[in-house]
Amino acid sequence: MDLFSVKDKTILITGASRGIGRAMAEGFASAGATVYGTGSRPESIAWTEGTSIKGIAADLRSESEMKDLINDIGKEHGRLDCLINNGATTLDVPASAIKEADLENLVDTNFKGVFRSCQAYYKMQRKKGGNIINIASIAGLNGAFLMSVYAGTKAAIIQMGNSLAVEWASSGFRINAICPGFTETDMTASIRKNDEYASKIKEIIPMRRIGKPDEMLGAAVFLASDASTYVTGSTIVVDGGLARH
Ligand SMILES: NC(=O)c1ccc[n+]([C@@H]2O[C@H](COP(=O)([O-])OP(=O)(O)OC[C@H]3O[C@@H](n4cnc5c(N)ncnc54)[C@H](OP(=O)(O)O)[C@@H]3O)[C@@H](O)[C@H]2O)c1
Repeated sequence: MDLFSVKDKTILITGASRGIGRAMAEGFASAGATVYGTGSRPESIAWTEGTSIKGIAADLRSESEMKDLINDIGKEHGRLDCLINNGATTLDVPASAIKEADLENLVDTNFKGVFRSCQAYYKMQRKKGGNIINIASIAGLNGAFLMSVYAGTKAAIIQMGNSLAVEWASSGFRINAICPGFTETDMTASIRKNDEYASKIKEIIPMRRIGKPDEMLGAAVFLASDASTYVTGSTIVVDGGLARH
């Protein structure tokens, strides 16, 4: 149905080197979008060579790299239809063991990096409007065991997005969030390797299985397409029911 079409839309996805970001980059590209995907290093985004996806290295912790990239896309295409802030890092250790450097890395990557990208996008395109999708987490809604700072950064980007949705609506910007549940990516690899813990997780997920990275695509397509033109300041949970457990 045309309503859900993302054909010819220009979409920038951070953290597209693997996991959920890569699944979204491949999904949007196969639906006819022009896709830019970032990773933290040139090697991590090298998989895009020979595809239609433009892979670029941009460290989310840098004050200028995402800003420069967003401005370059604006110059190349005239507009960026959708920014998907997906790249993030995690840390699952007891709160008492978190070191200052870990704290800074999590906040710089997951919060400041997302805010800077939103700000650069707004400044580049304030006269044309825009569409931002922030990939948060159900940890940002409910909290999560051993994930105090990670969960805090995810809660922060949900409320940052909700605030921007109010502030920038009059400039034609929509800002929404997607909260994945437990998903089969590198981020959860160490937990999934522990058979006992993995089966406990499956037991508490009402759908009794772990999500696949490409199961996050449908919500992103909805939010990136004209099917959601009246949706802003919303959060879509994609978690097999885990947050309701
Ligand atoms: N997996 C889950 O169960 C789950 C659950 C809830 C929410 N989420 C969220 O979903 C999103 C994707 O998660 P995922 O599981 O797909 O993660 P992942 O497989 O660990 O991939 C993380 C991505 O973020 C990029 N990244 C990390 N630090 C970066 C930095 N400083 N600068 C630029 N890029 C950086 C990585 O690039 P490199 O490859 O270059 O390192 C990679 O592309 C994240 O926002 C995550 O918090 C995931």
